[in-house]
Amino acid sequence: MSQFWKPGSDRPRAALLDDEEGGVLFFSTPSADYGYSNHEKQRQRLPVFKYRTSILYLVENHATTIIVGETGSGKTTQIPQYLKEAGWAAGGRVIACTQPRRLAVQSVASRVAEEMGVKLGEEVGYTIRFEDLTNPGVTMVKFLTDGVLLREMMNDPLLTKYSVIMVDEAHERSLSTDMLLGLLKKIQRRRRDLRLIISSATIDAKSLSSFFHTSRKRHGEAGDACEPKMLPAILSVEGRGYDVRIHYLEEPTSDYLQAAVSTVIAIHDQEPTGDILVFLTGQDDIDAAVQLITEEAQNLRRNSSGLIVLPLYSGLSRSDQDLIFSPTPKGKRKVVISTNIAETSLTLEGVVFVVDSGFSKQRFYNPVSDIENLVVAPISKASARQRAGRAGRVRPGKCYRLYTEEYFVKEMPAEGIPEMQRSNLAPCVIQLKALGIDNILGFDWPASPAPEAMVRALEVLYSLGILDADAKLTSPTGFQVAEIPLDPMISKMILSASLLGCSEEIITIAAILSIQSIWVSVRGAQKELDEAKLRFAVAEGDHVTYLNIYKGFLHSGKSSQWCHKNFINYQAMKKVVEIREQLNKIVQRLGIVLKSCEGDTQVVRKAITAGFFAHACRLEAFGQGGSYKTIRSSQEVYIHPSSVLFRVNPKWVIYHSLVSTDRHYMCNVISINPSWLIEAAPHFYQQQKPNPAAF
Ligand code: CDP
Ligand code: MG
Repeated sequence: MSQFWKPGSDRPRAALLDDEEGGVLFFSTPSADYGYSNHEKQRQRLPVFKYRTSILYLVENHATTIIVGETGSGKTTQIPQYLKEAGWAAGGRVIACTQPRRLAVQSVASRVAEEMGVKLGEEVGYTIRFEDLTNPGVTMVKFLTDGVLLREMMNDPLLTKYSVIMVDEAHERSLSTDMLLGLLKKIQRRRRDLRLIISSATIDAKSLSSFFHTSRKRHGEAGDACEPKMLPAILSVEGRGYDVRIHYLEEPTSDYLQAAVSTVIAIHDQEPTGDILVFLTGQDDIDAAVQLITEEAQNLRRNSSGLIVLPLYSGLSRSDQDLIFSPTPKGKRKVVISTNIAETSLTLEGVVFVVDSGFSKQRFYNPVSDIENLVVAPISKASARQRAGRAGRVRPGKCYRLYTEEYFVKEMPAEGIPEMQRSNLAPCVIQLKALGIDNILGFDWPASPAPEAMVRALEVLYSLGILDADAKLTSPTGFQVAEIPLDPMISKMILSASLLGCSEEIITIAAILSIQSIWVSVRGAQKELDEAKLRFAVAEGDHVTYLNIYKGFLHSGKSSQWCHKNFINYQAMKKVVEIREQLNKIVQRLGIVLKSCEGDTQVVRKAITAGFFAHACRLEAFGQGGSYKTIRSSQEVYIHPSSVLFRVNPKWVIYHSLVSTDRHYMCNVISINPSWLIEAAPHFYQQQKPNPAAF
């Protein structure tokens, strides 16, 4: 890397103090002159710009650099560009920057392409599952989800094409981020030329530093001239946020959605200009809030024309994303209602008011009941602080917390729990196995997963025929499942479908299940939506109903009017067609040729059972959304009102996923014959267990 300094720029002055004990301290270095386009000026105003030279120096000299900086300071959009300017993408190498969220990947990649004045997909590209917008040989800066980078390791275990990998948003501690950190640490031992940057908004930098600091001495003290220091460097970029005044509720609320709506209306009525950012939990409550705020503003006829209300969650189309980032027209006020994606992943300029519900949707897994579900759960103090910080971007702001101060101080947990410790680990185990890592309990994780969860994962994978009794991937099933970038249960369902002769149908189902919802969300038009569903509904359940919808969509010539008439989300259906095409390619690579069962819904349900037998339930009490018990662990569960089986109550069902509010609700449900369970997984239902010692 002798070519590393940008031609014409100076080496950093003696402004760096290399502190062998605990990283590096900084003084800012003078900024170089990089041209005067509009973007250039904006780039130079970002807080990280002052550290450009220091960052490059550290990356050159340390195997790992940890960068902590306020949201909006320019970490994600600038650092990859600095690296490229300094020559890290020379000679066909690629600079990678990972994000936990797909929407963030798309959004930052298009921003960086714009700043660099290049077409997205050429010098700057991105890859998310089922969407690859890169041009091999041309793309120098690549944004991708951490999950996609993990997948790339299966073909290229040392990730040889990358010169620098920036693992961004590390504070989120997503399952894939933690897996990636563990694996990158291994790769680093084999690749001295690889540099890691771990960046985050808030992080316990010391603990990550000690995770990456292997005490192993190598090649004597002096080392080779090009050898990077193994001691990670820590750099902290000072923020430049303005003060944010925090307001709490006097009394707790039981309806945060309504409280959020009233707060937005009150801000709009009483406060000067400035955009509002509202944190809710997911597409359902966000869509509801958008509708309520729009209606309320119209009813009151007060300033209603001045409000632009926009949702922000994953799965939004590109044009919807653009609206969110485009500047608010004069005299208007933008209200963005978001999941926690706007907490640190994306920065919205112009926000002055934040409304924080205090909740987010989180994944939880209980290894005892083997139930994984999405729960609307309280956020941590660290998250609440981040959310509040979003109000101080352009001038002093205000944050309205929809909970009491006492709750914040006394009850809110200080930090969130890493996803690794609250997830079903089956997908993670199978990936590590596919990478040849056999000793999974002994794997060096940034946060250790619960051993019970590991044992459960082993057990389920064994029942699915993916692992053998020695906890090795089976051939061909195990290896094939590992190839498919979907949950192992879905992958198993697809492989079984190919044996049963219904792969055409099953990949349609798999594509639809990988989309949040194919229905348009309608508050107040529930009756019409239910009627629309009835047009497609069949007694076999939701999956088979989806097949009817897909058929109808194709039959209409993929018409948007047809979707509109049937309360179906046109964008979602287009996405389904795309994903289905991708899945088709993947299964073809596995040697599977699609075959249709020509309307035999029994084999379709058998294939689903082959993947999802662990989600079988039996009816306990009949009634609207009658109560069921899971066969595995006798947990009480109910059919979700959105299911076509809500009023039908078949005796035996299998669900796709659970969401939990006051109860566990099964989403996407089919009726089954219990004999299929024994057929699909005799060992699972006869309680025969593999040997956990095989771990
Ligand atoms: O990663 P970090 O939170 O440190 O900041 P960033 O995402 O790199 O954002 C730096 C700046 O770029 C912020 O001022 C953003 O508002 C701006 N930006 C933007 O205007 N549009 C985007 N799509 C992304 C970033
Ligand atoms: Mg960022």
